[in-house]
Amino acid sequence: MSTEPLIVAMRQIVKVYPNGLRANDHVTFEVRPREIHALVGENGAGKSTLMKILYGLEKPTAGAIYLRDQLVHIDSPHTAIALGIGMVHQNFMLVPSFTIAENVVLGAEPLRGGVLDRKAAIAITRELSRRYGLEVDPEATVDAVPVGVRQRVEILKALYRGAEILILDEPTAVLTPQETQELFAAIRQLVDNGKTVIFISHKLREVKEISDRVSVMRNARMVDTVETASVSEEQIARMMVGREVFLQVHKPPLQRGEPVLQVRDLEYVSDAGVEVLKRVSFNVYAGEILGIAGVEGNGQTELVEVIAGLRRAVSGCVLLGGVDITRASPRQVRRAGAAHIPEDRLTNGVALSATIAENLIVDRFEQPPFTRGLLMQPRHIAQHAERLIEQFAIRAPSAELQVGMLSGGNMQKVVLARELSARPKLLIAAQPTRGVDIGASEFIYDQLVRARNDGVAVLLVSADLSEVMALSDRIAVMKDGRLTAIFSNTPHLSEEEIGYYMLGVKHMSAEEIAANW
Ligand SMILES: Nc1ncnc2c1ncn2[C@@H]1O[C@H](COP(=O)(O)OP(=O)(O)OP(=O)(O)O)[C@@H](O)[C@H]1O
Ligand SMILES: [Mg+2]
Repeated sequence: MSTEPLIVAMRQIVKVYPNGLRANDHVTFEVRPREIHALVGENGAGKSTLMKILYGLEKPTAGAIYLRDQLVHIDSPHTAIALGIGMVHQNFMLVPSFTIAENVVLGAEPLRGGVLDRKAAIAITRELSRRYGLEVDPEATVDAVPVGVRQRVEILKALYRGAEILILDEPTAVLTPQETQELFAAIRQLVDNGKTVIFISHKLREVKEISDRVSVMRNARMVDTVETASVSEEQIARMMVGREVFLQVHKPPLQRGEPVLQVRDLEYVSDAGVEVLKRVSFNVYAGEILGIAGVEGNGQTELVEVIAGLRRAVSGCVLLGGVDITRASPRQVRRAGAAHIPEDRLTNGVALSATIAENLIVDRFEQPPFTRGLLMQPRHIAQHAERLIEQFAIRAPSAELQVGMLSGGNMQKVVLARELSARPKLLIAAQPTRGVDIGASEFIYDQLVRARNDGVAVLLVSADLSEVMALSDRIAVMKDGRLTAIFSNTPHLSEEEIGYYMLGVKHMSAEEIAANW
């Protein structure tokens, strides 16, 4: 055993928010130098709060923090940075119109004659990028690069400021599986360079893959810290939830009805002039789940957004229950009977300053029982909210709480609860379990299957192939903006076989696909 001191020791941390909510209850959290330490727990368990305290964003109500055995007082991120602590949040804090190099040095710019030394900024970025294997183009502007690259910029920024301890709060929630692997390679390189990484995730497979030790929180308390190699995913899940979790899906035999959604020859061209959707055609029938598999970025996001009315198709058509919604607004699409769980729920799904109860009825507040005549019915609105909070295990002291005060995963659950309770004909679910904990994922699977059993047509888009395989009655594969296969006999399919279609190694003929519309 080494006698090297712990790099971080948070002892008996208590955090009570001004509204009285106790988010951390005598939490002790210890990190060894150069380890990759995963922090897991259900939505609302208190993980982000604990990390915000370490980064100086929140003040602990009680408790002490030691860095290498030295007692420290971290009263702001400024102090945290000076002490070698960096944090990458889920919502990035970059300036979109600046270049990557400008963002990396922002706030601590190399100067030349009193102004930003652009050449130096580019050289610094290039050097850091090379040393840590975080590939970026220093001269690209941030708004022109994908989310995986933006995350690398955030990490580079922290490293430029001298971070020795890097906190990553759900870094993979926004990444494709491919980008996740790139991030993991970078994390390993950081550790080889002497850094220490604290990593929050709900994906236990990732926790097993990347971490040396894992700390589990439940209900504001620290349950335990263990060597990752000594526990299975199931054991971690049990420590988190306090019970057995089964991510299995039980589906009664398919009772397929009429086509509810009909998409024909749909084409979409992006603002940048790129042909993103190329003659996409398929149906979703009442009582089935059609899953769309594909490497992210092959048009799935745009397909969903065109159907939901958030983007305009250039040609082709979309019928919902026989009604043409090709050029309808999001509101009209809802009226026609669709519910939509958007991929990016925190920007498109919730109003942060409105209450939970308000968010749960925004799409239907003018309808009975929430409004009668011209009068809002507060009692019905409150009852509706309380029922959904209970059903979806949204961790909140009251339905009158502003959504912005919920934990990240609980914000997501508000959107899920609203859309799943909308009694739609068509349910569009984009990345439905992203950012939610394993217990909630199990519940969402149940809800999607229940909707299907009740005759709802469910269109599922997910980057998680095992999720698509477990839930779908039929699976379509998207590659480069086209559907390259539709499988109706899913029980006989392997992930490997679908993988060939996702990568473009195999594809069905147009006739074969049309036969499976
Ligand atoms: N500013 C705030 N004011 C009041 N309560 C808050 C505030 N921020 C967080 N909370 C509450 O503190 C608790 C812990 O939240 P926290 O964000 O730490 O959870 P988490 O473990 O990160 O969850 P998730 O996995 O959903 O991100 C939650 O009940 C949340 O509603
Ligand atoms: Mg969180």
